[in-house]
Amino acid sequence: MRVSALFLGALLLSLAPAAESCGPGRAYGKRRPPKKLIPLAYKQFSPNVAEKTLGASGRPEGKITRNSERFKELTPNYNTDIIFKDEEDTGADRLMTQRCKDKLNSLAISVMNMWPGVKLRVTEGWDEDGHHSEDSLHYEGRAVDITTSDRDRNKYAMLARLAVEAGFDWVYYESKAHIHCSVKSENSVAAKTGGCFPGESLVSLKDGGTKRMSDVLPGDMVLSSSLDGLGPLTYSPVLSFIDRQPHVNKTFYVINTSDGASISLTAAHLIFVSDCTRNSLRTVFASDVKPGQCVVTSRGGEGTNMAVVSSVKERRSRGLFAPLTQHGSIVVDHVLASCYAALNRPGLAHWVLAPLRLLHSLVPPPQASIVGVHWYPRALQWLGRYLLPDAQFHPLGRRSACLFDL
Ligand SMILES: *[C@@H]1O[C@H](CO)[C@@H](O)[C@H](O)[C@H]1NC(C)=O
Ligand SMILES: *[C@@H]1O[C@H](CO)[C@@H](O)[C@H](O)[C@H]1NC(C)=O
Repeated sequence: MRVSALFLGALLLSLAPAAESCGPGRAYGKRRPPKKLIPLAYKQFSPNVAEKTLGASGRPEGKITRNSERFKELTPNYNTDIIFKDEEDTGADRLMTQRCKDKLNSLAISVMNMWPGVKLRVTEGWDEDGHHSEDSLHYEGRAVDITTSDRDRNKYAMLARLAVEAGFDWVYYESKAHIHCSVKSENSVAAKTGGCFPGESLVSLKDGGTKRMSDVLPGDMVLSSSLDGLGPLTYSPVLSFIDRQPHVNKTFYVINTSDGASISLTAAHLIFVSDCTRNSLRTVFASDVKPGQCVVTSRGGEGTNMAVVSSVKERRSRGLFAPLTQHGSIVVDHVLASCYAALNRPGLAHWVLAPLRLLHSLVPPPQASIVGVHWYPRALQWLGRYLLPDAQFHPLGRRSACLFDL
């Protein structure tokens, strides 16, 4: 029943015009019909749940100090359309997570549109001095307190509404003197960006050389295996990219093996692991790989090893790439991984992508058109959300129930 619905969907989708949905991938900047903006009431918050719950900004993940490892998660905001009060005179108020920065920059534009000549003003950003309550999101660069540059308190109720519209995960008309806004952590957002490899990872080519993921083109013959990872290594053409975002930085899981291989992939990407016997090979999410399990490595040529995982660490790297090969698997940094993500049923993903594989084996897409999530898997995500049980999705991606990437 499910499968036949999916098949029907896949068929319908394979007939959809490719040009229409191809593009920057993310839904930013889509035109919506103008909407009536209702100001927030004093002490109102939106959404109407507590700030640190899943439906809003989520739980605190611990204070970030200048000395902590996570300090690098904060990025300074030098947007000249925003006025930073910078009371502390340390630039701390400019520091925030990427998500907070994106929402703030978007809000800055709506403020200037709503009130020409007026700018957005930030009175509090990241707090390193302990001015807030114990588990405040200000300590993680995930919260800002804002006003307008003219400090006209009559504008704040509408400013709060604009903040909601700009995409802050929680907005609170906290005091007559400011609006408090906060966002989800980068980790919880990163999980939704599905399965990808960083740009610096290497694929193995037929001529014996390697190529950076960021340089891979459709048509390149790259080392892969069968869909279930059990087949011998073979060269398979890259047909397209399920996702391709060269300029985005994300947190990757770095899996090192006893034979010196090291593969990086995002939490929801699928990789082949076993209990170190060949016939126990299965796909698991990268975030579920444990030291002591085995992965399949290629050490030169087409021979494979079962290599013991020696460590799993997290690291930020640049670029998000999810190449799709004819065979459905790919050797990256000498380790065998699936081409699929988020949904732990690579067989199904491979099968519903058959029309796409056929299309691209006949007409390779021009390189320049590949940015963002491919239109076809994006459409399937939508379909999958209605047809598949939650249990097969990556736990972090479950709320969006994405098939591949969101
Ligand atoms: C991404 O990381 C690179 C270094 O790996 C850095 O040069 C670049 O500025 C970062 N980009 C963003 C948008 O944070
Ligand atoms: C994993 O391997 C990479 C590349 O060889 C190395 O730079 C890194 O330090 C290793 N990480 C750990 C935790 O051993």
